[in-house]
Amino acid sequence: MEQVYIEDIASAEGKEVEIKGWLYNARSSGKLRFLQIRDGTGIIQAVVFKEDVSEEVFSMLGELTQETSIILRGTIHADMRAPGGYEMSAFNIEKVGDSPNYPITPKEHGVHFLLDRRHLWMRSAKQHAILRVRHEVVSAIRDFFNNRGFINLDAPIFTPAACEETSTLFETEYFNDQAYLTQSGQLYMEAGCMAFGKVYCFGPTFRAEKSKTRKHLTEFWMVEPEVAYMNLQGDMELAEDFICYIIERALENRRPELDKLERDISKLEAVKKPFPRITYDEAVKILQEKGSEIKYGDDLGAVEEEILGDYYHIPVMIHHWPAEVKAFYMKRDADKPELALGVDMIAPEGYGEIIGGGQREDDYDTLLASIKKHNLPEEAFDWYLDLRRYGSVPHAGFGLGLERTVGWITGVHHIRECIPLPRMMQRLKP
Ligand code: 4AD
Ligand code: MG
Repeated sequence: MEQVYIEDIASAEGKEVEIKGWLYNARSSGKLRFLQIRDGTGIIQAVVFKEDVSEEVFSMLGELTQETSIILRGTIHADMRAPGGYEMSAFNIEKVGDSPNYPITPKEHGVHFLLDRRHLWMRSAKQHAILRVRHEVVSAIRDFFNNRGFINLDAPIFTPAACEETSTLFETEYFNDQAYLTQSGQLYMEAGCMAFGKVYCFGPTFRAEKSKTRKHLTEFWMVEPEVAYMNLQGDMELAEDFICYIIERALENRRPELDKLERDISKLEAVKKPFPRITYDEAVKILQEKGSEIKYGDDLGAVEEEILGDYYHIPVMIHHWPAEVKAFYMKRDADKPELALGVDMIAPEGYGEIIGGGQREDDYDTLLASIKKHNLPEEAFDWYLDLRRYGSVPHAGFGLGLERTVGWITGVHHIRECIPLPRMMQRLKP
């Protein structure tokens, strides 16, 4: 008998098919058993009549527990009342594996209990929906860059030096040497864009974040495009098009999941070009008017990001930052060298910074001076300086945090639910 996945069930209407899955829920009513089965692509209800199966099977069905793996064979009919629009009349049921005392029941559980059982929790409807949206965002990210002729280059995970703040480096032994887990593939993408014009990397990045906020993981996924001959303006346009594309794809292909998550779709539909672009100076003025105690020169904190998010309701790009708060590789503004040509994109609804990037320093002497000023090990950056020795050009790029983006799109409060197996300061298991 042909196996059909529940998401393709419409194509099986009127046919006898097989569904292979796990028991989600069950109830009985006289001569009927109602089994809700999930197969990873959806949930369908199967109805079993006492007359259609043996006495033995009918009583076995009454004892099935949550997450027992089963194969159902039966006929599919359209049914307006059924949640997915279809139902199965099952006449043959095969139990594959027992599931005694499944720990995650439909009642409420605490989040730590659930995180300890993340390997099982991902079977639950809400988590399942979030991770399917994540999958869509991942595909959209790749399609966006691939369709624009970017080459995907992968960056190494073992690195010899910091790219971002040295305070968040994970150190690891590397034979008789010391290595760090990558914080960002950017420096390698700068090499890549000089070779291929436009490139991106997409992979896990690591930060020894000691902060326990809803927006920080120690291991998160970042996509990082880098383009030769691009300036800050071009970078902002790219970031804006990119976000619009991701949102469109999520709305187009993951509506059922977003509905399941009770996401207010109108907030995502409002995300249209152009996004507001303000300088850091303007941001500080707005923040002070709104009651923030921020002083000129301070970096934005969670509270400031939230205020700006609420002010604009769509992502806002903040550019021209005080160089002091930004990384060593940022290019300075020609007229105001105290400013860095960096850009951060802040998402609305409290999700904070989803993109960080900007134009890179392309002058050898200025970059070398900056490496020294930041007390970075010069020898580890010698190869990076080569990019300014041999055919240096203006170039720009950015990094988008996948989990923060998925958090915003799904409306999930904490980004630990936006990655299959989160890593945080106090969590290395499962
Ligand atoms: O702003 P960040 O630190 O920028 C960079 O790493 C640049 N080198 C990227 C580049 O220009 N190629 O990080 C980029 C993004 C942030 O905007 C945020 O979305 C995400 O990465 N991010 C985190 N996400 C989850 N947990 C953390 N601890 C994160 N740290 C940064
Ligand atoms: Mg940043």
